[in-house]
Amino acid sequence: MQVVIGSDHAGIELKADLVDMLAARQVEVHDCGTFSSQAVDYPDIAELVAEKVLDLNCPGILICGTGIGIAIAANKIPGIRAAACLTPEMARLAREHNDANIVSIGARLLEKETAREIVNTFLYTSFQAGRHQARVEKLKTLERKCRERS
Ligand code: RB5
Repeated sequence: MQVVIGSDHAGIELKADLVDMLAARQVEVHDCGTFSSQAVDYPDIAELVAEKVLDLNCPGILICGTGIGIAIAANKIPGIRAAACLTPEMARLAREHNDANIVSIGARLLEKETAREIVNTFLYTSFQAGRHQARVEKLKTLERKCRERS
């Protein structure tokens, strides 16, 4: 499995922990930074990760202080469905119902162990399709409509 990951300065420690966890599970990790505690703007990291997720057609992990800003930024990019998750249950439902392709987590809000559970749940849960398929198709239709308007 391949996974793309990125965080702003608020998330570097949690990112390092998750990279280690994933590598130990033989996951191929594409780390888009940031790599130091110097402040960076979360939209820049969101863009790098989102573009790579689309290129590789694989899941992504975004981390900022809350998981909110970086998810908002990623969701501006057509094809991205980023879900900010505070619990493993949210991560499961984001995959099963929303076919989310990025999980976004808040380094300042979560214990390391909870973050690990969220990521593992997200990566190993499949989209249920069925009644959720038409709703996800409507998300794609919304994207198309917005693109046509601009
Ligand atoms: C950075 O201080 C912080 O604003 C950012 O990590 C994030 O929480 C924004 O949503």
